Amino acid sequence: MKTEQIRFGFLGAGAISHYSAGSVNNHPGAKVIAAQDLHPQRLADLCAAHQIPNAYATADELLANPDIDAVYIAVPNKFHVPLTIQALKAGKHVILEKPFALNYAEAKEAADVARQMGKVLTLGMNQRFEKFPQRTKALVERGDLGEVYHIKAYWFRRSGIPKLGTWFGNKSLSGAGALYDIGVHYLDLALYLLGDFKPVSVSGATYTKFGHLGLGAGSWGKSDNEGHVFDVDDFATGFIRFASGATISLDVSWACHAEEHDRADVQLYGTKAGAQARAGKLFRPDPATGEYNIIQEPNIDVRYPHGDRFHNFINHLLNEEELCVPIEQALAVQRILDGLNASAVTGREVRFD
Ligand SMILES: NC(=O)c1ccc[n+]([C@@H]2O[C@H](COP(=O)([O-])OP(=O)(O)OC[C@H]3O[C@@H](n4cnc5c(N)ncnc54)[C@H](O)[C@@H]3O)[C@@H](O)[C@H]2O)c1
Repeated sequence: MKTEQIRFGFLGAGAISHYSAGSVNNHPGAKVIAAQDLHPQRLADLCAAHQIPNAYATADELLANPDIDAVYIAVPNKFHVPLTIQALKAGKHVILEKPFALNYAEAKEAADVARQMGKVLTLGMNQRFEKFPQRTKALVERGDLGEVYHIKAYWFRRSGIPKLGTWFGNKSLSGAGALYDIGVHYLDLALYLLGDFKPVSVSGATYTKFGHLGLGAGSWGKSDNEGHVFDVDDFATGFIRFASGATISLDVSWACHAEEHDRADVQLYGTKAGAQARAGKLFRPDPATGEYNIIQEPNIDVRYPHGDRFHNFINHLLNEEELCVPIEQALAVQRILDGLNASAVTGREVRFD
């Protein structure tokens, strides 16, 4: 690296960028020095809230700033890959928001450009860094669960569609609804915990039951209601098979009728123990008494104790830490999402070579 301080430029000044700027500026070896958004007020708000000195109206201007080492991209999904490629070609490292792309072919193009340019490209999969999932990962790796043969990943929101009328619900801008927006999180987490990103087949179904009727709205997102048509899924389900015989079931909803407002976890079923990764619980019989134990917060060292996706990216750029989300894993997740979407359309299982 040319400096000990990694200097960031932010493309996109929406809701998530406020959290992200806080994370970057919390790291002693990094600082957000520039931001850009098409919306002047949102840009001004982000810069004011996080003392960002340079505000740009266009990505071209931000990327021309030679002081910027790394770029964070948090814009509507349609622009993820074009801006990533532009940033990589401008010589910047990139941490991109999920989902990677609108489809695998696009994502692959960005990964290829990163390789050609010799730059780091990663996806900021924040769920991997949470305290309890990190502990679950360490327990799986230590063998405490035995053979993990099934993972049940679910995130049900009762009324949590991001602000209606924004880009989130419009297929041409987002690619898909709940499946891409929150399905990607727990699909990625399930694959990470299983330690296998190469399924042999996937089967999926998607549903649109609320958003197009103006129902199920949540409040996430800073974008304005621009009257975009809601034409994406607000519920998605999938089943994923691996050569080992292991399976993952995935269920996500932006809106559905359910008892709880929000119910989410990644539940692992192993031969020696079970676990709930988000709640941080381990289930196993006591070997001495046979009594069944539910253990909260098992004490174990984790790989990323800072618990922050940006700190991992920054530490990696400073040659201090292994990257948690290699781009090959992000590509594999996108390939599975494509497969689930394709299966939902045809009603048939999609097999991978
Ligand atoms: N990791 C997470 O948990 C998480 C959470 C929320 C959102 N996200 C992702 O972050 C991204 C942004 O989401 P958000 O919630 O901040 O959305 P948002 O609607 O609040 O903000 C999007 C911003 O992008 C700006 N924008 C639109 N097109 C642009 C362009 N071409 N160049 C620059 N700026 C542009 C808009 O003006 C807006 O300010 C999405 O990809 C979303 O999936 C991730």
